Amino acid sequence: MTRRVDQLLASLGYCSRSEARLFLKHHDVRAGETRLQNPAGKTAPDGVRVDGEPLDNPGGLFLMLHKPAGLVCSHDPREGPLVHDLLPERWRRRNPRVTSVGRLDKATTGLLLLTDQSEWVHRLTSPARKVPKRYLARLDKPPPPELVPLFASGEKLLLDGETKPCAPAVLALPGGCRAEITLTEGKYHQVRRMFAAVGLTVLELHRAAFGRLELGNLPPGHWRPVSPDEI
Ligand code: URA
Repeated sequence: MTRRVDQLLASLGYCSRSEARLFLKHHDVRAGETRLQNPAGKTAPDGVRVDGEPLDNPGGLFLMLHKPAGLVCSHDPREGPLVHDLLPERWRRRNPRVTSVGRLDKATTGLLLLTDQSEWVHRLTSPARKVPKRYLARLDKPPPPELVPLFASGEKLLLDGETKPCAPAVLALPGGCRAEITLTEGKYHQVRRMFAAVGLTVLELHRAAFGRLELGNLPPGHWRPVSPDEI
């Protein structure tokens, strides 16, 4: 499929559409051997090179990030420092823009998926798909074992302001004040609210896995490309 050169460059974050003419003047943009200089000209993305490099992920971006505490998943800087600020500038300028697949709270750390492919956001956040997300929590008190069947029931835990009970969640209690919980839905502040509903406060929360993807030893603030098939 061919696209206007200015649209192609702007969608991948190289420049804005209005900057495309200057960008083409100052950079060596080629389709095969042909130098592209007309922003309104059309080209197929395949085989386009910018200063000798292939185009930057022309088929879409898909990343996993180790979200540090203190950053927000929104695009609004009034809400605090943004997870998106960790990404290279060119990716922050892409259109459609790169967004997170669901959100983690500002204080939550761990595995966050980011993509510019909205169909993947819908696919992975749809409750119907029941994609498991595993969290590690540190609580203010040791959680009692009765919570395991309660969280697993899928009918007994109704959170404030919700009309439907929480779907079955798998809770493991490794000891002390720690809990490992796997959810297949993503209500607002869900883990914190589930524990609050039984009188416990989450002091620390970390997402260790999303579907089959494990955060592993990716350091905080770092990201790596993933393929949607890995999830
Ligand atoms: N549940 C929460 O309460 N917070 C998160 O960030 C993720 C799940």
